[in-house]
Amino acid sequence: MKISVIGCGYLGAVHASAMAELGHEVVGIDIDEAKIAALSAGRTPFFEPGLPEVLTSALATGRLRFSTEIAEAKGAEVHFVAVGTPQKKGSYAADLRYVDAAVEALLPHLNPGDLIVGKSTVPVGTAARLAAVIEAAQTGGSLAWNPEFLREGFAVQDTIAPDRLVYGVPAGPIGERAVAQLNEVYASAMATGTPLVVTDYATAELVKVAANAFLATKISFINAMAEIAEVSGADVTQLADAIGYDSRIGRRFLNAGVGFGGGCLPKDIRAFTARAEELGRGESVAFLKEVDAINLRRRQRVVDLTVSALDRPVHTAKVAVLGLSFKPHSDDVRDSPALDVAVQLRGLGADVVATDPQAIQNSRSRHPQISYTPDIDVALRGADAVVLVTEWPEFKSIDPEWAAGLVNTRTIIDGRNTLDATAWRATGWKYYGLGRP
Ligand code: UDX
Repeated sequence: MKISVIGCGYLGAVHASAMAELGHEVVGIDIDEAKIAALSAGRTPFFEPGLPEVLTSALATGRLRFSTEIAEAKGAEVHFVAVGTPQKKGSYAADLRYVDAAVEALLPHLNPGDLIVGKSTVPVGTAARLAAVIEAAQTGGSLAWNPEFLREGFAVQDTIAPDRLVYGVPAGPIGERAVAQLNEVYASAMATGTPLVVTDYATAELVKVAANAFLATKISFINAMAEIAEVSGADVTQLADAIGYDSRIGRRFLNAGVGFGGGCLPKDIRAFTARAEELGRGESVAFLKEVDAINLRRRQRVVDLTVSALDRPVHTAKVAVLGLSFKPHSDDVRDSPALDVAVQLRGLGADVVATDPQAIQNSRSRHPQISYTPDIDVALRGADAVVLVTEWPEFKSIDPEWAAGLVNTRTIIDGRNTLDATAWRATGWKYYGLGRP
């Protein structure tokens, strides 16, 4: 099938490459010339495990190409819109200008029977509005909403073998045709029995934000328990294990720590509250403001814990920060709790030396006031405290004995509750976790 993918960021670049890998003929389109040049040359503009391999192999088949020209979308039958929906400046709402612009730009290039497929995360009601725009243009094209659930770090795997597919389509023959087209796009996932939910636009849009709101709530729930554990002497990691054995609850996404970040969860729950308020139902998701507040308090907690654990005033201390990306196996620092902690400590006057396997470049361009090093030992040398804020395997496997030989003071704040507290304490470290003694 001939496919176009509009927007070649984290979502679109992976989607375009994966679709070509699955046998489709794909053109990826983006207005960013540098991004298109890199992708065309087989270079990924961001770090995503497995993507370079899929990109180069798909390019080699001749089925995948990239362009800055929207006109190149002509001739494709299915057009995926995978542009960003960032948080609006000065507001909680999502900024839809890129989605609107992508659909507008596609209109002159549609053939009758073409299907535009929205993948971006949007406020409920957006698809119906865009469908009206498409209908008014009288191109014979139609719209489906097909939310994406990929996790950074596992994006290729999540795209090629998703755990479910959701199609939001209009009622009647137009919707039936859209389902048939999407089934052809996802033939390989369908063949392996991937669960499929065919529904209306509003449900498809809500599925995505509801899923992210649920995950964010789960994380903030366990972080709230961590706050209670901190004042009662309980251990939140054991608590999570114990409640997680209940299969109705489940252990995943119950890791207490410095909290969630990234390009999705924080902005999606904020956009959801803004949209619910617009719809006159703000109270239904008012709890998401609490979820957000708990999440942001955890960053502050790590900063406060570090300041109080230091044996000298913070502005005279060297602090090693291990981790900058919002989670391991990513170079993404959007709304990253780790980078936020580093910035706050620097703001308090600490000599912050931060390290991360992939996210230094993205961090430096945003926050040049921090010192960065690719070497863990350089970060640790002479440190008065070590703060672990992204659980990269490289940091989890640090030998406490080795680290003890480098630092000035053996103080470690484990912002992800990921280290073996007993082993670290056994080598003379003052170990501080979050919500655990
Ligand atoms: C998320 C959703 O998982 C995905 O389905 C959606 O399509 C996009 O948003 P992603 O942003 O890649 O994916 O990250 P995710 O793996 O969900 O982690 C989000 C944040 O939560 C990270 O900062 C992570 O460190 C944090 N987290 C996760 C916790 O603090 N505790 C946990 O137990 C799990």
